[in-house]
Amino acid sequence: MSEAKRLAGEKAIDYVEDGMIVGVGTGSTVAFFIDALGRIRDRIAGAVSSSEQSTARLRMLGIEVLDANAAGPLKLYVDGADECDPHKCLIKGGGAALTREKIIAEASETFVCIVDPAKRVPVLGKFPLPVEVIPMARSLVARRILALTGGQPVWRDSAVTDNGNWILDVHNLSIVDPVGLETELNQIPGVVSVGLFARRRADIVIVGGEPPQVL
Ligand code: A5P
Repeated sequence: MSEAKRLAGEKAIDYVEDGMIVGVGTGSTVAFFIDALGRIRDRIAGAVSSSEQSTARLRMLGIEVLDANAAGPLKLYVDGADECDPHKCLIKGGGAALTREKIIAEASETFVCIVDPAKRVPVLGKFPLPVEVIPMARSLVARRILALTGGQPVWRDSAVTDNGNWILDVHNLSIVDPVGLETELNQIPGVVSVGLFARRRADIVIVGGEPPQVL
């Protein structure tokens, strides 16, 4: 599996252009992309990072990490996913970095998603859907999600996001309308962000393999 992740991560380098500020996601697949980026660090202007974890790895490799506000609109964002459907809608947030990932995806012209083949599913929802919540709203949001979707929200034990918030993982969903569900869950007070990337989904999906498949 990690070989597939490596092949996907390294293939994404094809989309990096000279002088770019690159949006960088989070996770074990992205770690391979960051390592490959490190090998061409003199060709890029820097990176905008979606997590403390990715920031540390970027800096260790000598890549400058820039503030998202200073960087402005980005041409490219590269990130992994927990699930990917045939329409390039995603579940993300297994690593609890969903909010910053969503911000960078939204700020980017092209979102390249890098996955291993096991991430591809016909319908999203087998992977529990992460929802980042303001701590005082945890119980309210959980009740609303149960009533709205029938899914079972589970508080992710001892997880605190880089933004100081908590995560609910919603089990037993079958997400046939990802845009509708994302929109609906976004309306609940106390929800910071939903790990459904459907309104702003991936533009390109690279599935790791020999050779990698570009969808
Ligand atoms: C981080 O919060 C997630 O959105 C990751 O992008 C996702 O969990 C993919 O992780 P791996 O590349 O480690 O499978």
